Amino acid sequence: MDSKLAIYPGSFDPVTNGHLDLIERASKLFGRLVVTVARNAEKAPMFTLQERVEMLREVTQPFPNVEVDTFDGLLVDYARRLGARVLVRGIRAISDYEYELQMALMNRRLEPQLETVFMLPAVEYSYLSSHLVRELAVLGGSLSGLVPPAVEQRLRIKVAD
Ligand code: PNS
Repeated sequence: MDSKLAIYPGSFDPVTNGHLDLIERASKLFGRLVVTVARNAEKAPMFTLQERVEMLREVTQPFPNVEVDTFDGLLVDYARRLGARVLVRGIRAISDYEYELQMALMNRRLEPQLETVFMLPAVEYSYLSSHLVRELAVLGGSLSGLVPPAVEQRLRIKVAD
């Protein structure tokens, strides 16, 4: 077990400034942070797994202790393989809590050694989600300040396809 290692799993379809804010905060708390993209979390993602990984690698470049990876199957099995004891999840509003609680308790049941740590993003991102970002992109709304510029460019290209 690596006590300095934390994993931050998610769909990241695409990574938003809210995710990035959380990554920055977690990178300061843990010696090593592995941001890991679930391969099969969503049935029809807007971005391929490779695109999501590429975007994450690009925007996490400023953080030397952050790595980007992917996982398949149960998260607890992945955490066990890596030797991670900590699983980071972001909670934006109370509405996130119920789902996150269920997931954290189920993961604890499956792997009691793995501790879920909830973190809060900056308040200006408390209403931000990848889902809303995708919707804005499709409908032509402004994405300024919601996603990193590299992601905004990818979204523009994606919806123009
Ligand atoms: O960004 P998301 O979509 O909220 O992330 C959800 C994710 C990928 C972390 C969750 O669906 C997950 O862990 N999937 C892997 C399968 C698994 O372990 N399921 C049991 C969770 S209790």
